[in-house]
Amino acid sequence: MSCLTKVNRDNFPLFQQDILEIERDSFPDPWNLNSFSREIGRSISHLWISLKNGVLRGYICFWILADEVHLMNLCVHGPWRGKGLGERLLRKMVEVGVSKGVKTAWLEVRPSNLIARSLYNKTGFREVGLRPGYYRETGEDAIIMSMPLYS
Ligand SMILES: CC(C)(COP(=O)(O)OP(=O)(O)OC[C@H]1O[C@@H](n2cnc3c(N)ncnc32)[C@H](O)[C@@H]1OP(=O)(O)O)[C@@H](O)C(=O)NCCC(=O)NCCS
Repeated sequence: MSCLTKVNRDNFPLFQQDILEIERDSFPDPWNLNSFSREIGRSISHLWISLKNGVLRGYICFWILADEVHLMNLCVHGPWRGKGLGERLLRKMVEVGVSKGVKTAWLEVRPSNLIARSLYNKTGFREVGLRPGYYRETGEDAIIMSMPLYS
């Protein structure tokens, strides 16, 4: 079983290269080093990684503010997809949110990302709205999904 580890200012340099490579392989508009460094510096932001045998397999970044948790980034490295890791990372977000008294989880997803939408549906998220033209590089809308959490 892989281990989920929280990333902070101290251990981020150990993982940043792997995170950036996975990010660049996975998204048309990848976060860069500044994006991740900014998240590490924000008190509301939480970054967790999955490690197995020293290999970084995926990560999740989310914000906890007031009584809400917002998914900011979720990614599993190509070779490790389809093995339950995305779901495990998402459930970690929910677990941390619940432990902090959060009432609702939110996220945005591209309509074309059927795999992510299936994962979110399976985890209990429901589609509640649309943000037109949300993704700047393609002009694609974002589907807004939310899920009530019970602390
Ligand atoms: C989306 C992503 C995080 C899913 O992670 P994963 O580890 O592959 O997913 P899991 O193995 O945990 O699968 C969980 C659920 O996702 C869905 N899913 C996963 N792979 C799928 C596939 N190839 N086809 C259809 N649905 C799929 C299923 O609902 C699955 O549940 P099931 O196994 O009971 O069918 C991963 O594909 C990824 O990193 N994609 C690129 C980055 C991305 O799109 N991030 C999300 C941005 S909103």
